[in-house]
Amino acid sequence: MKPFAGADHAIRIEVLDDAEAVGRRACDLVCETLSAPSSVLGLATGGTVEPLYAALITRHRAGGVSFAHASSFNLDEYVGLSPDHPASYRATMRRLLFDHVDIDAARTFLPHGAAADLDAEATAYEAAIRAAGGIDLQLLGIGSNGHIGFNEPGSPLASRTRVVALTEETRTANSRFFGPGETVPTEAITMGIATILEARRILMLATGTAKAEAIAAALHGPVGDACPASALQLHGAVTVLADRAAAARLG
Ligand code: PGA
Repeated sequence: MKPFAGADHAIRIEVLDDAEAVGRRACDLVCETLSAPSSVLGLATGGTVEPLYAALITRHRAGGVSFAHASSFNLDEYVGLSPDHPASYRATMRRLLFDHVDIDAARTFLPHGAAADLDAEATAYEAAIRAAGGIDLQLLGIGSNGHIGFNEPGSPLASRTRVVALTEETRTANSRFFGPGETVPTEAITMGIATILEARRILMLATGTAKAEAIAAALHGPVGDACPASALQLHGAVTVLADRAAAARLG
């Protein structure tokens, strides 16, 4: 099956058995992007993408993929966490992917959540994406409230990289990545919805029943800021990989 070419619709949906199958299929699509002479990946964090990163490491160790000519830009980072904090997205990416493949660490970008001037950091992040030639393939998870990156409901579709407040729903969902007694940050710096939509292709992954409503609203509901992921309907080249549980309300 040709993953991106020849799609009849701007959003192509593939339903797979379970989270592991979603990870394996996503791995194939990411490897296709990595097979270009150079590529720019937009990366995401969260439980949903972990099987994908495990599959990429396995493929790399088997000699099946190289990141040597790739650059990467992550969607977001917590405000106030240093890159060495284990729950920071920089540390998470090192643990889940960067330390296990041949990507050049100097070409892995995340917003600096501990920067003194966060507005300048946001502007610089946008400039760095542009300087790299833009993102070829942007990975996305989806929040149970429909967020993409940390663009929570109410985020303007025209938003760009900026500091945002996290909802209680998101902080509660992400508390599992923090140690006992640790507080989940209240703010993050995230690519905006307009930033995300500039990626040439988008690959959204959704697994588990907790995502079923959000995925249905994103793909079949009205486009608007009540469901940030509904903005994907405005993009011309989106693939959604969902497991059966997440696809349950797609009809
Ligand atoms: P999750 O997060 O993969 O941990 O469910 C996805 C998201 O919030 O975008």
